Amino acid sequence: MLLFTSIRIKNAVIFLWHISHRHDKIFEKGRVKWTKNKLRVCSGRLFFVHLTSEATTKKRSFIHGSAHAGKTKRPQSGGNGGLMIENERVQKILYGGDYNPEQWPEEIWEEDMRLFALAHIDVVTLNVFSWAALQPDEDTYDFDKLDRIFSLVQKNGIKVCLATSTAAHPAWMARKYPDILRTEHNGMRRKFGGRHNSCPNSPTYRKYAAALAKRLAERYGSYDCIVGWHVSNEFGGACYCDNCEHAFRLWLKEKYGTIEELNRVWNTAFWGHTLYDWDDVVVPDLRTEEFMMERVRTTFQGISLDYMRFQSDSMLACYCMERDILKQYTPDIPVTTNLMGTYKELDYQKWAREMDFVSWDNYPSYNDTHTRTAMRHDLMRGLKQGKPFALMEQTPSVSNWHTYCKLKRPGVMRLWSYQAVAHGADTVMFFQMRRSIGACEKYHGAVIDHVGNENTRVFREITALGAELAALGSQTLGARADSKVAIVFDWNNWWAAEYSAGPSTLIGYPDEVSQYYRALSEANISVDLVGVEDDLSGYRLVIAPLLYMCKDGFDEKIRRFVSDGGTFLTTYFSGYVEDHDLVVTGGYPGRLRDILGIWVEESDALPPEEANSFLYNGQRYPATLLCDLLHLEGAESLAAYESDFYQGMPVLTKNEFGKGTAYYIATRSDAEFYRSFLTELCTSLSIAPVHASPDGVEVCLRKKDGIGFLFLLNHNDTAASICMEVSGTELLTQKEVSCGDTLALAAKDVAIIRYSFAHIGAD
Ligand code: GLA
Ligand code: ZN
Repeated sequence: MLLFTSIRIKNAVIFLWHISHRHDKIFEKGRVKWTKNKLRVCSGRLFFVHLTSEATTKKRSFIHGSAHAGKTKRPQSGGNGGLMIENERVQKILYGGDYNPEQWPEEIWEEDMRLFALAHIDVVTLNVFSWAALQPDEDTYDFDKLDRIFSLVQKNGIKVCLATSTAAHPAWMARKYPDILRTEHNGMRRKFGGRHNSCPNSPTYRKYAAALAKRLAERYGSYDCIVGWHVSNEFGGACYCDNCEHAFRLWLKEKYGTIEELNRVWNTAFWGHTLYDWDDVVVPDLRTEEFMMERVRTTFQGISLDYMRFQSDSMLACYCMERDILKQYTPDIPVTTNLMGTYKELDYQKWAREMDFVSWDNYPSYNDTHTRTAMRHDLMRGLKQGKPFALMEQTPSVSNWHTYCKLKRPGVMRLWSYQAVAHGADTVMFFQMRRSIGACEKYHGAVIDHVGNENTRVFREITALGAELAALGSQTLGARADSKVAIVFDWNNWWAAEYSAGPSTLIGYPDEVSQYYRALSEANISVDLVGVEDDLSGYRLVIAPLLYMCKDGFDEKIRRFVSDGGTFLTTYFSGYVEDHDLVVTGGYPGRLRDILGIWVEESDALPPEEANSFLYNGQRYPATLLCDLLHLEGAESLAAYESDFYQGMPVLTKNEFGKGTAYYIATRSDAEFYRSFLTELCTSLSIAPVHASPDGVEVCLRKKDGIGFLFLLNHNDTAASICMEVSGTELLTQKEVSCGDTLALAAKDVAIIRYSFAHIGAD
C-alpha cells in the first residue's frame, strides 16, 4: 500500500509514505508515538518516516528521531558574514573542540557536560567521523544517537560546529563499491581502512557524500546552536585510480581544448611523449612519470603539475558539492573545512574562495620555531585577505603522530592559543575533548584525560584559559592586522619549484619563504602572506621569495606595483617559468628581468658543506644553496661574491624602476643577513616595528574601531621585560600600563594591551 500524508501540527510537519502493511505495530522513536494507525506527536517536532514493506523485504529506510527538539528559529546571519566568525551573536572567543561522545557509553555524557562547564567550553565540533554509524547500510540512516547528542549539548548551552562525516567512508560502501577506494601513488588500490580513504572522483563517494550532507542539513539545519558547517575533515590524499584518470582527461580537455595544445604545454616533443588522443593521457605516478629520489620527482613537470592542480580541484569539487547542498537548506550557516597550514597538496588560496571563513589545525612539531607557527597563522589569515579565522584544532598537550610527541610545557598551550589569537584567530579549539581508549589517537592529548576527571595539569590549564577567554569577551573579535609588508606565497609555484629536476634538491619553497618571514617577525614587523591574485596596492614592500613560476599577469602586477612607487624584492630561482612550467626564453629571470634590471646567466648549486660569501655593510655573510651568476642591466650592485670564479659578481642588487625599487638577492644567506637587510629596508620605507621587545618575545597587533590590541608573547624559558611604548590596559590582569613603564612577562606568559591610537598618534 502506498500512502502519502502530510499533516501540519503547529510547527511540525509529518510525512508518511509507503507505509508497511504491518502498520499495526507500535513504532516509537524519539517522542513520536505511533500506535494502531494513530500517530501521536508529543511535541512540535519534525518527523520523517519512510518504511518499505518489512514483511516482504528486510530492506528499510528510515530517518527517525526528532529534529526540532528545543530548537528556536535561526536568526539571519546576514549572508556570508558567518556565525562562527565575525558575527555579532558570538560575543567571545569560542572555546572547545572535537567531541566524540559516540565513542563513549551515554552514562559518561553528563559527566562530560559537567567538566565542559568547569572548563568554560562553549563550542564542540560534532560528527566528524560518524558516517558508518549514521548510514549502516545503503538504505538506512540512523540519527538517533546524534539526536541525543544534539539535545545534550543544546540543553547545556553549547554551540555546535557540525561536521558532515564524509572523511572516512563506511565499510559496507567499500565492500559493495570498490570504486570508492583510493589508489596510492604507487598504483596500489587501498582496501577499507584508515581515513581520507575515498577517491574524490568516485561517483559512489560523491553520491553518498551528497546524500549524507543533504540529510544532515534537512535534519539539523534549523538548530540555532549550530555556528558552522565543517565539511569532511582535513581534505587530502591524492588518488591515482581509473576514475581519476578518466576525470583528469576531462579536466585537461576543458582546460586545453585540443590535444595539440596539450602537447605544446607539456612539451611532449621531449622523449617522444607525443599524445595522439585524450585516451593516451595517463595519471603521473610511480608507474609512469614519477619516481622517488630524495623526494617525489618527475620526468614531466608539466604533467605532474597539472595533476596536482587537478587533484586539488577534485577534492575542492567534493567540498563544493557538499557546500552547495548545505547552502540550499541553510544559507545562513557558514561553511568551512579545516585546513592544515603549509599543506602542499591543496591550493588553499583557490579553496578559500569557496569557504565562508578559514579554519585550520595547528600542530607544531617539537622543534618548530614560534616564527614558523606564526607564518602558518598568517598564511591562513591571508587566504581570506585578513578576515579572522578559526583555530579549529590544536592539541591541549601532546600529539600522537609526530616522531617525538613532546608535551607542551606548562603555559605553552595558553601561549600558543594566544599566539593564534594574536595572528587573527577568533576561536580557540582543541582536538580532542575526551581521550579515546582505542586506536591511534588514544595517546593524543585531550581536555579530559583517561583518568576521567578534572584533576590533571592539562585540565587545570584549560580551565584557567577558559576563564580568561570568558573574561576577555568580545573585545578582540573581528580585529585585524594592519601590515605594510606582504610576502607572496603561491601553491602552484611551490609545486613547480619542488618538482624541478635541478638545480638543487635543497630548494624548498616554504623554507625559503620562512627565512624572510622570520626576519620580519623577529623585528616585530607585521606581515601579510598573500597570493598572486591578491591586491598589492596597499603594501609598501612586497617580497616574493623563490618566485620560480611567475604566472601570466603577475609580472604585470609587480611592474605596476613598482612603477607606482612600491618596493619589490625577489630571490634566486625566480621568473624561470610560466604557468605550465615552460621556460621563459630570452634570459632569466624571464618576465621579471626588466623590473629587476639584471640578467642571470647561470646558477651554481652548492652542496650543504660548501658556501661562498659576501660583504654587506662591512659584515660578512654566507652565500649558500644556489649562487646566481648575474649581470647588471641598469641595477646597481650592493654586494658581490668574495670567492670562486664568479668572485666580484653581484649577489645583491637594487634597481630603480618607475617610482619604485626592485631588489634581488641572488643566493640563500643566513638569518643574520635577512634580519639586518630587511630591518634596514623597512626603516628606509618608514615601516615601523609594531613595538620593541627582547628576543623571543613575539609582538603582534590587531586593530578595530580605533583600538589596538597589542599582543606580547614571551616564548622564552625565562622572564622578560618590555619597555612600554603605549599606554593602555593589560586585558588579562586588568592593570593599567603607561608609556615608559617596564612590563614584566614571566616565561611563556602573555600580555594583551588594549590602547587607543590617540595615545601614540598612530594611524
Ligand atoms: C587532525 C584531525 C583530527 C585528529 C588530529 C590529531 O587534525 O583533523 O581528526 O586526527 O589531527 O592530531
Ligand atoms: Zn581516484
